[in-house]
Amino acid sequence: MSHSRFEALCARLTLPVVQAPMFLISGPDMVIAAANAGILGSFPTQNARTSEQLKDWLDTIQQGCAGKPWAANVIVHPTFERRDADLELLLEYQPDLIVTALGSPKHIIERAHAAGSLVFADVISPVFARKAVDAGVDGLVLICSGAGGHTGPLSPFAFVDAVREFWDGPLILGGGIATGRGIRSARALGADLAYLGTRFLASRESMAADGYKQMVIDSSVDDIICSDAITGVAANWLRASLQAAGLDPNNMPKKAEMNVSASVDAKRWKDIWAAGQSVGPVHSLQSIQDIVDELTLQLAE
Ligand SMILES: Cc1cc2nc3c(=O)[nH]c(=O)nc-3n(C[C@H](O)[C@H](O)[C@H](O)COP(=O)(O)O)c2cc1C
Repeated sequence: MSHSRFEALCARLTLPVVQAPMFLISGPDMVIAAANAGILGSFPTQNARTSEQLKDWLDTIQQGCAGKPWAANVIVHPTFERRDADLELLLEYQPDLIVTALGSPKHIIERAHAAGSLVFADVISPVFARKAVDAGVDGLVLICSGAGGHTGPLSPFAFVDAVREFWDGPLILGGGIATGRGIRSARALGADLAYLGTRFLASRESMAADGYKQMVIDSSVDDIICSDAITGVAANWLRASLQAAGLDPNNMPKKAEMNVSASVDAKRWKDIWAAGQSVGPVHSLQSIQDIVDELTLQLAE
């Protein structure tokens, strides 16, 4: 699939921003609000509890977006039991973009292209980026240090430079971006779009519990703890939620065994709240439209 298809997708956005997919947080309300505000909304298909619920969500999204672009995030790891069923269903709705997580995107690319969807892989290192390029993705989502949830270890400067050694195609950049300044910087690095998750956690359309949203509003960059103890891979968490779960943020236990079972994962993420280093600029509960308006003003400054 050619780069011009992605360019055409970007041209349909009023701001070069993706509302990044967030486990247990982003669903139809967020995706639709994002689309109507002029950015690219996305959600992980596993947020729908069953394939039946996913179908309802996809109907709602298709209707609510009314032709505006939207994206979905799919787990491609073979141990995710709903992987094939969710993908088949998703492709019937022809998302503009599919972002793959946790594994090789190889097996979905041909089918996604046949359905008219672009496939980008979410990667945290040049090694994974190269594997995704070799598999034939249309673009890469580079997750840099400071990202909410599972994070990358690399500075965006070093990461983009390393990837540009072998990939001159579309790039989306995520991790620590929450303001117009950050979006402008991502663009200056050559990214087509900025990938913002944490900035949307405390939005009206977010499925986060009220206490979670308030904790995001009350937290600063100093309250973000990076640990692999919860899920087995490095992720950023809110200090106060670790404390509430009986953990000592300054003395986190050793790495947990990675387990992509949906039910185990849901319990971890429901009880312990993820957020990235970009929490600082989140000062109040806002609608997605208000956040996009604020980012637009900042970007014009
Ligand atoms: C609460 C939360 C849940 C997340 N869940 C997912 C997920 O299910 N799939 C995924 O690919 N990324 C997930 N992410 C990562 C985001 O998609 C994105 O990479 C990240 O939020 C970007 O960094 P930022 O939070 O600094 O904006 C999650 C992030 C957060 C904060």
